[in-house]
Amino acid sequence: MTNDEAFVVTIDGPSGSGKGSLALQVARELDFHLLDSGAIYRLLALKSIRQNADLDQENEVIAVLDDFDIDFEPGDELPVPFLDGQDVSAELRQETMGEAASRVARHAGVRRCLLDLQRSFFQPPGLVADGRDMGTVVFPEARFKFFLNASIEIRAQRRYKQLINMGLSASIPQLQADIAERDERDQSRSTSPLRPAEDALVVDSSLLDLTQVTELVLSHIRENR
Ligand code: C5P
Repeated sequence: MTNDEAFVVTIDGPSGSGKGSLALQVARELDFHLLDSGAIYRLLALKSIRQNADLDQENEVIAVLDDFDIDFEPGDELPVPFLDGQDVSAELRQETMGEAASRVARHAGVRRCLLDLQRSFFQPPGLVADGRDMGTVVFPEARFKFFLNASIEIRAQRRYKQLINMGLSASIPQLQADIAERDERDQSRSTSPLRPAEDALVVDSSLLDLTQVTELVLSHIRENR
């Protein structure tokens, strides 16, 4: 590796494609910062629910941003999300919060308000950012862009294992229906819909495990850095 200049790696993809785990591994290997942008939308959804804001009303969600006190502290695995000084990781990972996040994330004004916050995560030596629009909107100049996909059946199975490992209950048919609904909402919204950036490398992880996908992504970065 010869180029020491800071750069951004974006990893976008639908729910359950494995982008969160991949982003964590890649950030560790490169010793880069990590942005889990989905966690920001989930934190905003949680705060909106706590304040009884209507998630479908853009102005009500934007008003919640007036006093949006969030933080990420280093954890054993992923950074630990805090809202108003409280660790909210368990609440954030619930499927219902993913659904609520996709409702607040539909509003163009909300997305605009969150741009600077997301971009502030880019600090030396570099950033790995995962989400839906990292390569298309938030970091269009990123040096490396990946779009991770997997079949809906595989994504539902992965989500099921994650939830069970966290001690939460889940059903595969229900998860599959929830994921399909969230995909539809994320792909059809007019602002920043979920789609690969034109210059993204699209990776189908259906038949690959995390080690294989991580190796594929790191080799691409090492060869082209
Ligand atoms: O990635 P995660 O499942 O935590 O994201 C929750 C929801 O937040 C997504 O379904 C999507 O609607 C929204 N989101 C987004 N843009 C991002 C990250 C997440 O719209 N960059």
